[in-house]
Amino acid sequence: MRFGACREAPVKIALLPGDGIGREIIAEAAKLLERLRRDGLPIEPMPDATLSLARRADAVMLGAVGGPRYDALPRESRPEQGLLAIRKALGLFANLRPALSYPELERASSLKPEVVAGLDVMIVRELTGDIYFGAPRGRRTNAAGETEGFDTMHYSDSEIRRIAQVGFEIARKRQKKLCSVDKANVLDTSILWREVVTAVGKDHPDVQLSHMYVDNAAMQLVRDPRQFDVIVTGNLFGDILSDEASMLAGSIGMLPSASLDANRKGLYEPIHGSAPDIAGQNKANPLATILSLAMMFRYTFGRADVAERIEQAVRKVLGQGLRTADIALPGERVIGTREMGDAVVGAVYGNIRERAR
Ligand code: IPM
Ligand code: MG
Repeated sequence: MRFGACREAPVKIALLPGDGIGREIIAEAAKLLERLRRDGLPIEPMPDATLSLARRADAVMLGAVGGPRYDALPRESRPEQGLLAIRKALGLFANLRPALSYPELERASSLKPEVVAGLDVMIVRELTGDIYFGAPRGRRTNAAGETEGFDTMHYSDSEIRRIAQVGFEIARKRQKKLCSVDKANVLDTSILWREVVTAVGKDHPDVQLSHMYVDNAAMQLVRDPRQFDVIVTGNLFGDILSDEASMLAGSIGMLPSASLDANRKGLYEPIHGSAPDIAGQNKANPLATILSLAMMFRYTFGRADVAERIEQAVRKVLGQGLRTADIALPGERVIGTREMGDAVVGAVYGNIRERAR
């Protein structure tokens, strides 16, 4: 059984490996894409893309950026700035970060298995506003002659409205619970945030909306993470809470992400970093990248069927006991990046054969 066509013309997927382990994990995603392409899916991987290629592509797959070789550089030359610039230039305002606990990996979480078993949280993080991009920012000398650094937290009502709408739409397709996270007991930005999210909620009476202060949300995520279905929050709070949530899932090496624009064009990347300490050693876990590819099929190409097959293949290899070092418990056999990628490709096609019978 073959995959049907997405569209008439092949969709273009830009591959940006980045730094550190980026090249290795992107190679595994490229391997799966190539296999899907040979099987008839009309896709065209574009390797080593730049921002201009990224603009022309239908979707972008990013490895990871950052590393010690940039440590001495000023902020404007660091790769993090490049990533922020791509997000802004492409209008990727909606960042989706799911945290799922796989039964096989429950014991790999730093939390007790009974706290994380069955966890399935989606964090919807606003990605092109907030204190990340607010002006003015910089340094100045204050009245006392001291140097001070300053940034501006900033949200307009239209920015809040569009991310709230994404949150409600996603919640509507899941357990219909949306928790909006802010700091409305202290920040004016958050007071507006809460008002606008509440107003958008009036158009979504089928979704149960709640509000939580960010400090409480950080605590609730480790106390009882399964109370959450979808969380919607601003850029800074979402950055912090999504790293926290990644630990519930066992390893940051398992978590994919999607960053979408208003037309669902997206940049897909694992949420982990470039791990320079293990780069080039065939040790990195490619599953977050492969799961990001699944998200690409679901959100940009509208192919939930392909996404589900990839996700099932990942569950299958975990079920078979295959583990990269980051998800292995003491004594478990460890395989490399390439072997894990091969296993997933094999499982995707195994699934297809089983279904075709
Ligand atoms: C993330 C990262 C980035 C961010 C950095 C690398 C700029 O932490 O994607 O969560 O803060 O958004
Ligand atoms: Mg982060």
